[in-house]
Amino acid sequence: MSHKKLWIPGPTEPDKDVLLQQAKWLIGHRAPEYTKLYESVIGQLKEFFQTKQNVATITSSGTIWMDIIARNFVKKKALAGVCGAFSKRMYQTIQACDKDVDLLDVEWGKAIKPEAVMEALSKDDYDTVAIVHNETSTGVRNPIADIGKAIKAEYPHIIFAVDAVSSAGGDYIVPEEMNTDLLFTSTQKCFALPPGLSIACYSDAAVQRAEEVTNRGYYTDLLAHHKDWEKRHQNPTTPNISLLYALDYQLGRMLKEGPRARYERHAEMAKITQEWANKHFAMFPEKGYESITVSTIANTKELDVPALNKELAKAGHMIANGYGAALKNKTFRIGHMGEHTPYDVKALLHVIEEIWEL
Ligand SMILES: Cc1ncc(COP(=O)(O)O)c(C=O)c1O
Repeated sequence: MSHKKLWIPGPTEPDKDVLLQQAKWLIGHRAPEYTKLYESVIGQLKEFFQTKQNVATITSSGTIWMDIIARNFVKKKALAGVCGAFSKRMYQTIQACDKDVDLLDVEWGKAIKPEAVMEALSKDDYDTVAIVHNETSTGVRNPIADIGKAIKAEYPHIIFAVDAVSSAGGDYIVPEEMNTDLLFTSTQKCFALPPGLSIACYSDAAVQRAEEVTNRGYYTDLLAHHKDWEKRHQNPTTPNISLLYALDYQLGRMLKEGPRARYERHAEMAKITQEWANKHFAMFPEKGYESITVSTIANTKELDVPALNKELAKAGHMIANGYGAALKNKTFRIGHMGEHTPYDVKALLHVIEEIWEL
């Protein structure tokens, strides 16, 4: 089967050398070689995020952290900001864990603003706020640093948990600068690895809160992961060692590029795509809050997105339709994350222009 370059917002294109790391022989996950590998992964993650917070990986996709938020942090009541399909999943997960949660609902395409969060927080006694950084369905990038600053200035006891699944590793993220207590992501997006590992940075306050909450589960018990790191620099259960080899190698590449340069490359790809979209269509997100890793474009010409993808496949590319019933065909999405370059983006947009005769 011929390979289609993935311009969907995850999984994205990994580097071939990174993929090949997974072909290494396995090692025992209680052996000193594994401890060395895991120490290297955690050390490099801390360096990449420029953080002194705790860092963990879990063998699972990113969604597990939604369960962890609900089960480890919510004592009395959470506030969940919803501005699209993935932030809705966070709200639903907290409900599914039988925890009390209020919805801060924002029109899809609009960003969640600090003022809206502060107004909602003034109405009840919340102990947890959960918000998405980069809403992959609408292509909106929420002002997390401003929200974090506002929350912590008035409610320092609140645990601020952020889904950065489609931004971390591409967008510029330093947990301390954003005042996050938990920030999680998945490997298949801006880290440009296969899916199967989640990564999180979490504060000491997050650990303290988990100590006060019961029924944290087993796999979803933050303290189990935290204590295993503290005790032996390993994981409580068998990790995906092959993917950790690849992550260790990819982190070396990411650090060589540097978090700032990586951000600038993503910002440049977003600028090229936004200019193109505004020339031929329109951007779906509110102006000034566009994602730098995925562009959601309003299909103002009502063109056939599945038919485009069929033609794109012949040229070796694949983009994404709009997410879910509400946005399918009304929008389409170009994921410019991970290994992609501004040059590649221009080439892709040129092929789309030719197919759609723009
Ligand atoms: C913003 C956001 N949150 C959560 C998820 C779910 O991540 P995973 O599939 O790694 O569980 C995604 C996946 O696309 C996402 O984009």
